[in-house]
Amino acid sequence: MPLSHIKEKLKHNMNLSPSYGQLIKVMQNMFVADGVKPSVGDIVKIIPSGQSGQNLNDDDEVQNLGSLCDAKSLGMVIAIEGEKFFISPFSFVEGHKCGDRVEILNHGLNIPVSEAMLGRVINPLGEPIDDKGSLQTYTSTPLMRSPLSALKRGLIDEVFEVGVKSIDSILTCGKGQKMGIFAGSGVGKSTLMGMIVRGAKAHIKVIALIGERGREVPEFIYKNLNNDLTNTILVVATSDDSPLMRKYGAFSAMAIAEYFKSLGNDVLFIMDSVTRFAMAQREIGLALGEPPTSKGYPPSVLTLLPQLMERAGKEDGVGSITAFFTVLVEGDDLSDPIADQSRSILDGHIVLNRDLTDMGIYPPINILNSASRIINDIISPEHLGYVRKFRRLYSLIKENEVLIRIGAYQRGADIELDEAINKRTAMEAFLKQEIDEKWDFQRSLDELCRIMQE
Ligand SMILES: Nc1ncnc2c1ncn2[C@@H]1O[C@H](COP(=O)(O)OP(=O)(O)OP(=O)(O)O)[C@@H](O)[C@H]1O
Ligand SMILES: [Mg+2]
Repeated sequence: MPLSHIKEKLKHNMNLSPSYGQLIKVMQNMFVADGVKPSVGDIVKIIPSGQSGQNLNDDDEVQNLGSLCDAKSLGMVIAIEGEKFFISPFSFVEGHKCGDRVEILNHGLNIPVSEAMLGRVINPLGEPIDDKGSLQTYTSTPLMRSPLSALKRGLIDEVFEVGVKSIDSILTCGKGQKMGIFAGSGVGKSTLMGMIVRGAKAHIKVIALIGERGREVPEFIYKNLNNDLTNTILVVATSDDSPLMRKYGAFSAMAIAEYFKSLGNDVLFIMDSVTRFAMAQREIGLALGEPPTSKGYPPSVLTLLPQLMERAGKEDGVGSITAFFTVLVEGDDLSDPIADQSRSILDGHIVLNRDLTDMGIYPPINILNSASRIINDIISPEHLGYVRKFRRLYSLIKENEVLIRIGAYQRGADIELDEAINKRTAMEAFLKQEIDEKWDFQRSLDELCRIMQE
């Protein structure tokens, strides 16, 4: 084993002379064990009784947790009670029995990171799941870490272009901003995500697909990304993965984004969906006996969301992570606990409406219900004036829609409403954008300005 690898292992406290505990209970989606004293967050390997675990640490090729050990036998210590500790498996409990040995592998989960990951599709442990061969990685980074301290955060003062004209001009995002995309199922989240990934001006793009159906992953790559994974890393945990994989898929993608940020890049992080990530924690929390609260979500879900979302942001003098999180809102109900909690953490929200898709307006962004909280700090007063005017005229149209439709409104009664009616077609056309159309920021701004000035 090369010296550098040994050093790396020692750096991460890898266990070079393991001692073993054993499983004393196998539950539906969790193990109980004793015999060793791990800490919460430690990664353990479960070795069927009768099998040797010694070969595990001898792999001298790669410092990659995923390839050192089969994910099937890995778990994480999620709670400790006296001598007993609880393990959530990265895979499933099937095939394990009481008496199987438990080895503490690693204090806290590290995942491999490297520039070789660009263009690849990986699982939450950093293992490639595409057909492009193995990944050689010699650096690793902790999966869980605290968000940037408030004083290290840079001010968000630069525009982050996404190439979607309604977002760039009316919901302008800044480098380091955290945005939510709130929508019901089938409204157009993945399509909008694809447009943002293709249109965003970012050095590196990290996409986390959490809890999607397996068939949606290739579909997302071919349909929404046009099969172009340049400077892009896709981290995937599908709905048939264990709750732990789905939970850590999101953290894994964030850790990768942080690695690229630390190299001085502006990174786009985009995750679909926060709701499925929260559901994974709901399964873990409930199995541990946490009390269910609103919609069955245990309290740990609400503390987990800021732990993930707050890691995005701008680090002064280093780089930035601009994040978009999709949140599934059932029945378009924005008061869902996950939607509510996400809105309170994020710096803005883009709401997609089913009504708009019924009218053929794509992307179906409900401009009046959406907002970017930092828009005032990043755009010029002139631009802000046009944004306000657009919102005002568009809301007048919406308020008086029925009157206008039935012909009850007489032109001339309200100058502002007349102006709104005159600009209606242009405003609606401005909100529409074809999937493969890309608008650069200045062009979007000029178009907004032209419509408002006419
Ligand atoms: N910009 C667009 N232009 C034209 N059609 C669109 C657009 N966005 C979405 N659609 C249509 O809406 C359908 C659903 O879109 P999409 O898969 O993006 O929704 P979703 O919200 O991700 O769905 P799910 O909840 O199932 O993940 C697409 O198959 C497509 O037909
Ligand atoms: Mg989708």
